[in-house]
Amino acid sequence: QNPPTADTLPGVPVADISATGPGGAPVQQAMDLMREHGPVFVRRLYGRDTLFVGDLDLVTDLADEQRFAKHIGPGLENVREFAADGLFTAYNDEPNWAKAHDILMPAFALGSMRTYHPVMLKVARRLIASWDRDARAGRPVNVPDDMTRMTLDTIGLAGFGYDFGSFERAEPHPFVESMVRCLEWSMTRLARVPGQDYSVQDAAFRDDSAYLARVVDDVIAARTGTDQSDADDLLGLMLTAEHPADGTTLDTANIRNQVITFLIAGHETTSGAMSFALYYLAKHPTALELVQREADELWGDQADPEPTYDEVGRLTYTRQVLNEALRLWPTAAVFSRQAREDTLLGGRIPLRAGQSALVLAPMLHRQPVWGDNPELFDPSRFTPEAEAERPVHAFKPFGTGERACIGRQFALHEATMLLAMLVHRYRLRDHADYRLTVKETLTLKPEGFTLALAPRTCAD
Ligand code: HEM
Repeated sequence: QNPPTADTLPGVPVADISATGPGGAPVQQAMDLMREHGPVFVRRLYGRDTLFVGDLDLVTDLADEQRFAKHIGPGLENVREFAADGLFTAYNDEPNWAKAHDILMPAFALGSMRTYHPVMLKVARRLIASWDRDARAGRPVNVPDDMTRMTLDTIGLAGFGYDFGSFERAEPHPFVESMVRCLEWSMTRLARVPGQDYSVQDAAFRDDSAYLARVVDDVIAARTGTDQSDADDLLGLMLTAEHPADGTTLDTANIRNQVITFLIAGHETTSGAMSFALYYLAKHPTALELVQREADELWGDQADPEPTYDEVGRLTYTRQVLNEALRLWPTAAVFSRQAREDTLLGGRIPLRAGQSALVLAPMLHRQPVWGDNPELFDPSRFTPEAEAERPVHAFKPFGTGERACIGRQFALHEATMLLAMLVHRYRLRDHADYRLTVKETLTLKPEGFTLALAPRTCAD
């Protein structure tokens, strides 16, 4: 179905960006356009129109599963070039989506996090060992790079029993470099100038995506040759679990697509969320003190605490900090919805069946429902009382409906535990007086954010 165009959407403002293109930061450009034109507008690029929505009432409408469903827009079509029918990029009616969803769902129920907890802790310790070395040497740490090492090793080990060994490498694992280039290709391909030659970029992309597939084949081979193929992690489920309805298992090609999908979806976004949380803590001493106090209450002066699964559930303020970081910078910043039937979005914007709208989460998260000063970092927005009073669709960092993030609990458990361990152990010094620059590679990260570390005791 053709996208809705400005001509079919009377009364919706149009912003034509063809003169400049979206540059390297399409999300932040769309945020600026929304500030200028209001919470629903059409962005026109070389004659292609995209409907952007940040308005709470309209997003609430788009979240209605009876009338709208996930849309695989041009961005995700590009990601499909290397993740195909993996969960994230599968079409709603593609049989492999429901099949993999049903098979893998139990692995992401809240209770399953107990299984992953020891591995998450093991990798958190790797990060701490590396940060201890940096602190002793007086070297600042590159926060997003190290968070990416941590989250990649965690999903590799917890999901697939595969060790990327990222902390033993001076440079990011080549998988990460290839993956980031594939994501960048997916993003910049959206802004191609008609008539220009992009064969060099496309050839580089093909090399990178072939490399990703080779790494994934290694991950699978490392498992299938052993007697561990029925281990109860994600890969074990993918290789052996039968669908409850028809007893079939996932086919080999689909397993490869799922492993690529989970390695990507399972680490880029979480590492960005952790990095933004640390950025805000470094800039907000009062919030930092409250997270430290929460960690101190659990672990006191212990030099090497052993956080338990249940303790992570008690880190409620730390969780609020993460939520507030995800409010300001939801690291998967947009998701797309399509009309199931011809309809009027918000009772006024006509959409035909199949036509789509892009939810711009960072702007939804700055709507009037968030108060007078939405730019202010304030974790008290996520107390249970405040949450109970707010409309449910005001906060959407994990998407919506049946295609919402399957890994949400996984990400929150991993990030909450690590954040608390880090503030318990280190004094965070914003030595470079860092000014936030958000880098976009389909996901968001604070670019070049470094911290200097010093050991801390409860009294600090
Ligand atoms: C889907 C965000 C962590 C796996 C999604 C979607 C969003 C999202 C917005 C929906 C996309 C859409 O509607 O097009 C995030 C954020 C994370 C995070 C902000 C961290 C803070 C994770 C983790 C995993 C994961 C840790 C795996 C371990 C997935 C998968 C889907 C998904 C497989 C597709 C689900 C489906 O369509 O059935 N995520 N995610 N994510 N996420 Fe996450």
